[in-house]
Amino acid sequence: KTNQSWGGRFSEPVDAFVARFTASVDFDKRLYRHDIMGSIAHATMLEQAGVLTRAERDAIIAGLQQIQAEIEAGQFDWRVDLEDVHMNIEARLTDRIGITGKKLHTGRSRNDQVATDIRLWLRDEIDVILAEITRLQQGLLAQAAQHADVIMPGFTHLQTAQPVSFGHHLLAWFEMLSRDYERLVDCRKRVNRMPLGSAALAGTTYPIQREITCQLLGFEAIGGNSLDGVSDRDFAIEFCAAASLAMMHLSRFSEELVLWTSAQFNFIELPDRFCTGSSIMPQKKNPDVPELVRGKSGRVFGALMGLLTLMKGQPLAYNKDNQEDKEPLFDAADTLRDSLRAFADMIPAIKPRVEVMREAARRGFSTATDLADYLVRKGLPFRDCHEIVGHAVKYGVASGKDLAEMSLDELRQFSDQITDDVFAVLTLEGSVNARDHIGGTAPNQVRAAVARGQALLAAR
Ligand code: ARG
Repeated sequence: KTNQSWGGRFSEPVDAFVARFTASVDFDKRLYRHDIMGSIAHATMLEQAGVLTRAERDAIIAGLQQIQAEIEAGQFDWRVDLEDVHMNIEARLTDRIGITGKKLHTGRSRNDQVATDIRLWLRDEIDVILAEITRLQQGLLAQAAQHADVIMPGFTHLQTAQPVSFGHHLLAWFEMLSRDYERLVDCRKRVNRMPLGSAALAGTTYPIQREITCQLLGFEAIGGNSLDGVSDRDFAIEFCAAASLAMMHLSRFSEELVLWTSAQFNFIELPDRFCTGSSIMPQKKNPDVPELVRGKSGRVFGALMGLLTLMKGQPLAYNKDNQEDKEPLFDAADTLRDSLRAFADMIPAIKPRVEVMREAARRGFSTATDLADYLVRKGLPFRDCHEIVGHAVKYGVASGKDLAEMSLDELRQFSDQITDDVFAVLTLEGSVNARDHIGGTAPNQVRAAVARGQALLAAR
């Protein structure tokens, strides 16, 4: 005889190590609020279905509410021998209200219970994450609006390519985050389907009314198959995939911030409160926040791979393997939320070093394409223009002069099509202003993009 709730068919207690090995309460206790929410909805429905009396329902609900208060006051005694959050709460309920507590589990299994809990929990997490994405995007829009006219070098291959507006560069991150937001909104629809009522795997013989629990818990739809209901973890994998993409974006963004704060680039200033020093080198100010976010992306990618691997070999329906879904899922959600929070706090505080950026853009022949386009407008084929400008750049490298620093005579060595009007084209402003179309880097287009971004956020 054992003291386990399932101990009836057992003739010896479970091995002490096995009890610890199979328990999940250390990590699944964080589902307590959603577990209680689900149980209250279930009890409410059971009364309406005529399975519980009103007095029983009321005792169960009051008991669960008191347990929630106990947990939140730090007075709840979590017991590993009770395996998981579900059985800890149910056992405590029976302690408190007596045998009525044992009726709560009628028409339900831990299999549909846990699937319900995780979905309710993840739905809330997604909402917090969405709000953090919006906050970060607001910061990007404000910076882009303020710095639409600041010019920096744009890069390909990390080599100076063409001048771009610093605001335009920041709005590239805004676009990526908009897609991350959309993906999570879409994922949330599939998270928000109700497995409760699937019971262990086949449904239940009680006259449950799933429409009632669905409505009480705010689910968008009722899962249509009980076997699928208890075994589906697609929603968690999908969340980790969306979270991985968002972390990949934050990681790339981090890499740029790390480069830009280095003495070699020196493009931006990151306030001291987002950095730490070195215990040996007194001069150091290290960009720890972006470095950590870049590093933490690995945990989230790991969670995605872990969950895919967890699920790939499981026959229907529930298997204990599924208990392993929680830690990676929790960690992925925590990591994404905290990384977004750090970025949302940090981005409004970065300051571009306008002169350094400008000088870097001027130095790298960044207007070479503009000169080629100028010659195209004079009637030459683009390939020939490319070659002409290539010669001019070669001359510039040898003589230490940028294109805009050469005299008209120097430039005309390479083509007699070049006239006085060329200098307007070779300036940084001329270059960015010329890219004046939707999605281009001209500062007025950057301002238009900021306005579109603001409208997008306002409609959320
Ligand atoms: N702790 C379990 C889990 O996380 C709850 C469901 C247990 N069900 C069972 N049949 N053992 O998956």
